[in-house]
Amino acid sequence: MPGESFYLTTPIFYVNDVPHIGHAYTEVAADILTRWHRQSGDDTWLLTGTDEHGQKILRTAVANDTTPKEWADKLVNEAWQPLLETLNIANDDFIRTTDERHEKAVLIFLQKLYDDGFIYSGDYEGYYCVGCEEYKQLDDLMETPDGDYAGQLVCKIHGRPVEVLKETNYFFRMSDFTQPLLDLYESQPDFVQPASVRNEIISFVKQGLNDLSISRSSFDWGIKIPWDHSHVLYVWFDALLNYITAIGYGTDDVEFNRRWPGTQLVGKDIARFHAVIWPAMLMAAGLEVPKQVFGHGWLLVGGEKMSKSKLTGIAPNEITDAFGADAFRYYFMRAISFGQDGSFSWEDLSARYQSELANGFGNLASRVVAMITRYYDGLVPAPGKAAPAAYMEADLGIQKTVADAAAAADAAIQRLAIHDALAAIWTIVEELNGYITIQEPWVLAKSDETRARLDTVLYTAAEGLRALAVLLSPVIPDATEKLWDALGADSLGPVWEQPLTDAGRWGQLPAGSRVTPIEALFPRIEAEAPSVA
Ligand code: ME8
Ligand code: MG
Repeated sequence: MPGESFYLTTPIFYVNDVPHIGHAYTEVAADILTRWHRQSGDDTWLLTGTDEHGQKILRTAVANDTTPKEWADKLVNEAWQPLLETLNIANDDFIRTTDERHEKAVLIFLQKLYDDGFIYSGDYEGYYCVGCEEYKQLDDLMETPDGDYAGQLVCKIHGRPVEVLKETNYFFRMSDFTQPLLDLYESQPDFVQPASVRNEIISFVKQGLNDLSISRSSFDWGIKIPWDHSHVLYVWFDALLNYITAIGYGTDDVEFNRRWPGTQLVGKDIARFHAVIWPAMLMAAGLEVPKQVFGHGWLLVGGEKMSKSKLTGIAPNEITDAFGADAFRYYFMRAISFGQDGSFSWEDLSARYQSELANGFGNLASRVVAMITRYYDGLVPAPGKAAPAAYMEADLGIQKTVADAAAAADAAIQRLAIHDALAAIWTIVEELNGYITIQEPWVLAKSDETRARLDTVLYTAAEGLRALAVLLSPVIPDATEKLWDALGADSLGPVWEQPLTDAGRWGQLPAGSRVTPIEALFPRIEAEAPSVA
């Protein structure tokens, strides 16, 4: 019987350009959360994909002398799909808004809203930013005194001139949903998180919502409005629907009901689309709203959001080529409180790699395995034969650290506090290192009288590593798989199948397991960090 549904989505990314570490950041967080839930027995599904319609993609394709579909195919195959390999993302599905399954289900959704009276034809006059693919109010714009666009109204986000639109469009009656949305935020305080994003959303909606223009007729790169083929659907209305078209909305009710509602992980830049427009669309269609919309913080460069349009992007493989995917995954989740902004620096990455991954964790693993190899011919000893008590206070302290860390990490993941989960798990690394320093197994090994004590100490260390491998498997899957092999723990099954909810229970690693020495889990990095301009 499958467990409780945990369906998590990332934004679908624009294919106007290649990914940078901001996109990688979202993917990694989503992957860690879903690996955690999967390993806890939940009925888990991770969806990611690409957003391929609209003017931004059309213009990029034209500028590159190609068609938007060819451009999108190239970027998906050469950049966006490979990103998932680079980062070791275990997504269950990848949706493209040009997929036939998506387009078909979008038509079903649109027709339903139209038939139910939520869509009407009207005149739109106002501003539009192609960079944001968003209709803008004057508040969203500023006049630039100098530079290329002196005297023009530019988008505050992209710093580029907005376009003035005057068109007859189809409108979605979003204004009907002002009060229902406010009620939703009130009755379901977790619906939008973190609190900073929630507050911003509530004050925005409190001003009252306008109806939303959802079609364009001045270009044709999009899904055609089913009752009027001279219009294509507004790219955001199209894109948001991916979260339900990918799981069978309109075509496979069993799958849809199994997965929906999901949790939507996005950057805070697009929280408004997800926490306002999207639930309004779902309410209009009589569908459940998401369980949660979580708007994580930004990776900053020089205090500003790293972005494609400002050319401040760092390619994810610059980091993974030097440090590996595990280090990338660990670093960003450990160094930045999930939900807040953070800055990336090569220095900080190198320092944490060396002190936490290589010295803290990697060394611990190789030392323990090496001692079991040397003192026990590679067979994990059975603990508890030493008098007067099987386990002494220091050993029981480690057992408690493991149990507490496992419980705290799980609780943290439930509130999407990935950094807190890692901090909790890392207490095991720190306590075990301290334990080994104090217990001095190399001294215990010198005399037969202390042999039984050595059994307990090295069993405790190995069993602590067993728990670490299980708890860290969603975060650093490659290193934990190596550690699992080295511990000879395969009799328990693969590490990624060890139930996380049971990770803190002491005594799972069988005595007699055969360890094999490991090369460093996190080897010394020879390469210099790329110089920062
Ligand atoms: O907005 N720091 O796509 P997009 C952290 N297609 N995360 C960042 C980031 C940064 N500096 N820069 C980007 C779109 N991201 C739409 C989404 S969804 C129905 C449609 C991440 O390619 C973050 O997740 O501009 C952000 O929300 C997303 O990339 C925006 O990607
Ligand atoms: Mg963007």
